Amino acid sequence: MTRELWNTVDSYICDALNACDDVLDLAQREAADAGLPNISVSANQGKLLNLIARMMNARNILEIGTLGGFSAIWMARALPPGGRLISLEIEQQCADVARKNIERAGLSKLVDIRVAPAIETLPKLVKEVEAPFDLVFIDADKKSIPEYFEWALKMSRVGTMIVVDNVVRGGTVIDPDSDDPGVHGIRRVNELIAREPRVSATAIQTVGSKGYDGLLFALVVA
Ligand code: DHB
Ligand code: MG
Repeated sequence: MTRELWNTVDSYICDALNACDDVLDLAQREAADAGLPNISVSANQGKLLNLIARMMNARNILEIGTLGGFSAIWMARALPPGGRLISLEIEQQCADVARKNIERAGLSKLVDIRVAPAIETLPKLVKEVEAPFDLVFIDADKKSIPEYFEWALKMSRVGTMIVVDNVVRGGTVIDPDSDDPGVHGIRRVNELIAREPRVSATAIQTVGSKGYDGLLFALVVA
């Protein structure tokens, strides 16, 4: 089984189940042309986020890590009129690309991008938001995932789903002696979740156009 096969199957699924369209393709091209790294979720993963948001009737979504706005478009498409997606991004250039992509997708009214380190925005957001988030997608720097998760939990309610990207990292997650700070971020969030009675979680390994990685799903249950 090769990376090439994973790519081909991902394309097949994308075509077969309609997870692609021109607005999304153009969003990816604009991000690439602007020099953004090719590390967004795949189209099929984006559609999964969209389905989760719809399944939950999500009205308020928080994203940590906007990049070029690809996952934001997928999630914002699930929002009803008057819904809101707040997306936190550290890089001005990413936010600029994302805003353009979101504008082209006709979603600007629903998406609010905040440009600053998320670790600075999150404490402000806790004071500002009136309703808890229904869905949170954590997809920023991996070493800070536990901190992002704790803030997300503060802005959650029973029934909130917190999704974390990149929790397998090619399998390196199993190495407690890894020199990758991202691996320790993932291992720490798993430990945090294990001793946190308010959440019930699992993680699913994935292969596809983004290589071998995984998604964590944590449901707030109390
Ligand atoms: C990286 C970050 C991501 O969010 C991702 O999905 C893949 C890779 C990275 O920083 O390398
Ligand atoms: Mg990611």
